[in-house]
Amino acid sequence: MVEGSPPVLKPVSTTPAIAPFLLIAGSGFGYCELLLLLADPTQSTSISGKRGGRWSMSTMNGRVCLVTGSNSGIGKAAAVGLAKLGATVVIVSRNRSKGEAALAEIRNKSGNQNVELMVADLSSLQSVRDLARDFATKYRQLHVLVNNAGIFLPKRVATIDGLETTFATNHLGHFLLTMLLLDTLKASAPSRIINVTSEAHRRNKIDFEDLQGEKKYSGYRAYGRSKLANILFTYELARRLEGTGVTANTLHPGVVRTGFGKDLGGFMAVGVRILAPFMMSSGKAAKAEVRLASAPELENVSGKFFKKGKEAKSSAESYNAEAARRLWEVSEELTGKEMQRVAAAA
Ligand SMILES: NC(=O)c1ccc[n+]([C@@H]2O[C@H](COP(=O)([O-])OP(=O)(O)OC[C@H]3O[C@@H](n4cnc5c(N)ncnc54)[C@H](OP(=O)(O)O)[C@@H]3O)[C@@H](O)[C@H]2O)c1
Repeated sequence: MVEGSPPVLKPVSTTPAIAPFLLIAGSGFGYCELLLLLADPTQSTSISGKRGGRWSMSTMNGRVCLVTGSNSGIGKAAAVGLAKLGATVVIVSRNRSKGEAALAEIRNKSGNQNVELMVADLSSLQSVRDLARDFATKYRQLHVLVNNAGIFLPKRVATIDGLETTFATNHLGHFLLTMLLLDTLKASAPSRIINVTSEAHRRNKIDFEDLQGEKKYSGYRAYGRSKLANILFTYELARRLEGTGVTANTLHPGVVRTGFGKDLGGFMAVGVRILAPFMMSSGKAAKAEVRLASAPELENVSGKFFKKGKEAKSSAESYNAEAARRLWEVSEELTGKEMQRVAAAA
């Protein structure tokens, strides 16, 4: 066991310094709410290893981890952290050249060569299925699945499957990947599933009448709902996995300086650039993912939301078990063809 410095996560009061910028940058309707959310000092965190309670990260020697969205940002930093603990890490990128650059960097920073790249687009059900098949041909075990990839799209874009891309990437692709890897996770127990959500899930409900944003679309709403879906999925998954030795937890990583929101334009892009110096580094944010993946004291903890390195309450709607059950059923229906093909091929 590697004793680590305690991740004492302290609020950073950023609002006074950035208030004038927020007024200017946040005047874009709809994006304003996201900017204010980003700047909320109760959500900014810093990690100090100097004070506070003890925490530990287990050695990950012999453990196999898969991290989606790990060619950049928090996912890449988490892959470095897991590789440093001795894990075999499979990183997933939708772009081969970005993935290869990240692979070299992760191996170099961690000193661990047991890091491998798999190329997959989480927004395509076929690509997710190919990823699960490629993984299964090379690995018999999976101890940690980190569903980290995420996207924010200001305008509605349809995927190759005709689905709304934010929902398809942030929720459905990860739902399918988890389902396809579940038997391996169970066979490898104790094992862990970590779904990366956001504080942006708050003040949202899943609109089952317009799940694909066909009637009405806003980037902020689509993102918030997809992040609520991450939590509903986690809680339902934890209920269904009880007694299997596989845990499912979700976390808000903090407000982090990454490539996130790179597709934004206008006021929002300006706002994110202005706020960047006040945000946490991806290295610090990734410590929370690595801790959830490795801390021995969390081995039996399941169905929880984490924020600032601690268990926290997610929105009231996220505990709506009926919504979680319905989302699960819709997700099964939407990925059904894929699941049936896998079952037939097995
Ligand atoms: N940054 C924050 O302040 C913040 C706050 C709350 C929650 N989060 C969450 O943290 C997670 C990581 O985000 P980040 O901040 O590290 O942003 P990031 O640097 O943009 O990382 C997102 C990753 O997801 C990948 N990705 C996006 N769409 C994909 C797809 N269709 N298939 C495969 N990979 C895809 C991206 O690949 P490309 O490089 O090819 O785009 C990238 O590697 C996300 O789930 C996000 O919602 C972030």
